[in-house]
Amino acid sequence: MAVKTIEWNDDRVIMLDQRLLPHREVYRVCRDYNQVASAIRDMVIRGAPAIGVAAAMGVALGALKAPSKTFDREFERILVVLGKTRPTAVNLFWALQRMRQVYSEKRSQSVEVVKRALKEEAQKIYREDIAANKQLGKYGAGLLRNAKHIMTHCNAGALATAGYGTALGVIRALKESGKAFEVFVNETRPYLQGARLTAWELKKEKIPATLITDSTAGYLMQKGEVDAVVVGCDRVAANGDVANKIGTYTIAVLARRHGIPFYVAGPTSSIDVDCASGKDIPIEQRDVKEVSHIFGKAVAPKGTRILNPAFDVTSQDLITAIITEKGVIHPPYQQNIRTHVCH
Ligand code: MRU
Repeated sequence: MAVKTIEWNDDRVIMLDQRLLPHREVYRVCRDYNQVASAIRDMVIRGAPAIGVAAAMGVALGALKAPSKTFDREFERILVVLGKTRPTAVNLFWALQRMRQVYSEKRSQSVEVVKRALKEEAQKIYREDIAANKQLGKYGAGLLRNAKHIMTHCNAGALATAGYGTALGVIRALKESGKAFEVFVNETRPYLQGARLTAWELKKEKIPATLITDSTAGYLMQKGEVDAVVVGCDRVAANGDVANKIGTYTIAVLARRHGIPFYVAGPTSSIDVDCASGKDIPIEQRDVKEVSHIFGKAVAPKGTRILNPAFDVTSQDLITAIITEKGVIHPPYQQNIRTHVCH
């Protein structure tokens, strides 16, 4: 049964509350854009493409409820509020820009026309994301056709997108192609997207998976038990540097050390050609309680100094290829990304 990450239903936005997974499947109903913004900030929904889709639906929802008299002012406010939720995933800003484009194109007509067009655009972004993931999944399955043991980090699955997933889209497509393989799932401290979400998705799909601590990755690579790594991405810079969940860079360095191919999968909506390199990507710093507490129980002495960057940057030289819905990008990325995005 397909995972329902998010949907537009009867002028409400309904999301699966990912904070409660894998133990409870609870759907949250958002009736206004502020509720959508809180859901993104508080990680009811998370994952770059899913954040983009939710933001687009938040704009459409906010526009629907905006009084005609103050529509333009309210529209700007909606974009500001949603734009402040999380800084790293470029899909958020890509989606807001696309919604602003529709607004600008339709604004000469009536407010009702604009509202309708924004609602249609949000649903188009939703459908396009699923189609893109299915397409990039196929390209990725071709690349990983000989891999028996695949490692992934964080959750880049149906839960992190409108559906099907990016890195897990490659893994779903590989299964659909009839290949036999197993997946090593990094638990992905501190928020445990691997243990809670990826293990849950792969179990639902009956794809053999083994959960490991993040620090077990090197041990398995050293023993020659990992054939390939595939991860998602929150932002791909113009030079090919990639921001993804904290710990991804460590896995990439280990993979290089052991001669293991390291693939990044993501829709072109995750590529930011206006961002020159990884050092220009804003890295979200999240609540230190995510590190000091596990399910509300303190695991560190009170007053301990804590850092909690949610993402890191993998430099382009460590990436074997970037898989998108348009095909596979190989180095040199500086040149090939621009060509890829423009075609
Ligand atoms: O903090 P999160 O859970 O939003 O981080 C998610 C990731 O890092 C994913 O790997 C990335 O967004 C790609 S999702 C297809």
